[in-house]
Amino acid sequence: MKRIFFITSNVGKFKEVVDIFKKNLPDVILEMYPAEKLEIQSSELEKIALFSARYIREKEKIDNFFIEDAGLFINALKGFPGPYSSYVYKTIGVDGILRLMKNVKDRRAFFRAVIAFCWKGDIYLFTGVVHGRIAEEARGTQGFGFDPIFIPNGDNRTFAEMTIEEKNKLSHRGKAIRKLINFLKLIWA
Ligand code: IMP
Repeated sequence: MKRIFFITSNVGKFKEVVDIFKKNLPDVILEMYPAEKLEIQSSELEKIALFSARYIREKEKIDNFFIEDAGLFINALKGFPGPYSSYVYKTIGVDGILRLMKNVKDRRAFFRAVIAFCWKGDIYLFTGVVHGRIAEEARGTQGFGFDPIFIPNGDNRTFAEMTIEEKNKLSHRGKAIRKLINFLKLIWA
């Protein structure tokens, strides 16, 4: 049995990732590993993910894990909250973003995820993006974070109105995780 750690304390994220792993790599055990993450401030998710991965590798002395950094980038707000999404969610939250977007016509936004996978001394990055728009009001009860206000292109529902499977098919995280899984299939073949 192969085993891999996902460094996160976000249960919502973990559930999504487990679902994709179970369907694609049923023989692999994915463990949630809620280690303390030290994050640098940067406008680039790649730099944040790389720094966190190196920090965890040093601190926890593990070498078979991945971390994921994601953010919501809103066109009309010049990419805000982007890499600061976690802090913005905890402070002004979904309602705060809706207030900032009140009477704003251009509602385009995207989610982006960067995965840093540490394996045998190297770090590999995988990314995923989903384009969509900010809803006029919060809808739905599934998911986490900004899910109730994000409508992916090609759909009229927010992520919070979708099942995990439906969100995974479209989401930034789903895309990045499927790239990681293809890579794992290659190196573990
Ligand atoms: P982090 O990658 O854990 O730092 O996440 C950044 C923040 O972006 C989270 O706290 C969420 O508020 C938001 N976020 C990231 N991915 C998603 C998602 O799939 N749905 C909704 N919000 C998300």
